[in-house]
Amino acid sequence: MNSTKTGKTIGIVNSGGDCAGINTVIASAVVAGCRMGYEFVGFELGWEGLIDRKYRPLNIEVAGQIQNLGGTVLHTTNRGRFAAKVGQNQTNQIDPSILDACQHSIEDLGIDGLLVIGGDGTLSGALQLAERGVNIVGIPKSIDNDLYATDHTFGFASAVQVAVDAIDRIQTTAFSHNRIFLVECMGRNAGWLSLYAGLAAGADAILLPEFPTSLDDIVEFLRYRRDRHRNSTIIVVSEAFEIEGKAVTQGASLTNEVIFAGISNELIRRLEDMAPHEFEMRNVVLGHTQRGGSPCAEDRILSKRFGTHAMEAYHQGHFGYMVALQNAHIRPVPIKDAVNQLKLVTRQNNIYEAARRTGIFLGDLEDYLSIAVADDMTNIPYSV
Ligand code: F6P
Repeated sequence: MNSTKTGKTIGIVNSGGDCAGINTVIASAVVAGCRMGYEFVGFELGWEGLIDRKYRPLNIEVAGQIQNLGGTVLHTTNRGRFAAKVGQNQTNQIDPSILDACQHSIEDLGIDGLLVIGGDGTLSGALQLAERGVNIVGIPKSIDNDLYATDHTFGFASAVQVAVDAIDRIQTTAFSHNRIFLVECMGRNAGWLSLYAGLAAGADAILLPEFPTSLDDIVEFLRYRRDRHRNSTIIVVSEAFEIEGKAVTQGASLTNEVIFAGISNELIRRLEDMAPHEFEMRNVVLGHTQRGGSPCAEDRILSKRFGTHAMEAYHQGHFGYMVALQNAHIRPVPIKDAVNQLKLVTRQNNIYEAARRTGIFLGDLEDYLSIAVADDMTNIPYSV
């Protein structure tokens, strides 16, 4: 497996949930790296492929074929033996025998080091390998955008776009039927996806896991709109939003990760109990549509920047680092700075503030009413 130029072969591992842009990252890293004299292999099914030594060669020709494809040609799993995160902010020490197996594969296959594409869980695992001296550069992937130390992860913009396109469509049918729609977005414990999608689409309410609100306040918000002849309402709700302190889940995955699902349905049930026959409500769960499909233009560009900078960081020996987007620049940052805690929405965030100022209900009824009344909503003609 020796290359002719540097004599170094880099292994690429992508792990965790897929998203749009993984193939773009792989392709751009391979193209940039081949020009620097490296060769590449891609491990199949995330860390599983590294442990079981299942891999395929990656070259410039493959890169050209995959660069705009959604998903990952290497396949992936978030249920493997290498799971380092369980739930929010709980890091697992990976079984030393699994870490040993990874190191043995790397040595026996003559791999110089790894580019690891992943989110919080994957990079927490990568850090444990890096701490054993494995040459690793991380690349931040997630539709949830919940990694610290980077302004954005790749995959996020495409997922936002999917949600916006869906909400645009839901808006016209909601309007026609004078209905309330609850649109359930992924994102786990971080509300970024819902916040960005809701703001971009012009939703009327965005319910985030970071800002609990009471059912009473949601009913009051709906009545306030109805009394002003806003007969259709779009509520974007994050999958991990809690009703009276409880999330709606479908049990746990094989690696004990909570599977969120059903909050929009449950909210309808609870709101109907509180205000029987007052509102006609429907729900849409966007689910994995947000992970599927080709990357949008913004994600293609970010993925190519991440992929090429990751090769640069590797070449310069920034091991144990992750490439990050910070103030429009890509920089290497220590992986540990990205995975110690989740990046959550705060009230100080300027996207949150824009949503608030455009009159979106974000869970704080008093604040919402103060802005709505100041805008003198009753004088806005009922047209849209
Ligand atoms: O972390 C990405 C993500 O898509 C979350 O937003 C979602 O909760 C989860 O993965 C779904 O995971 P799975 O594909 O295992 O159902």
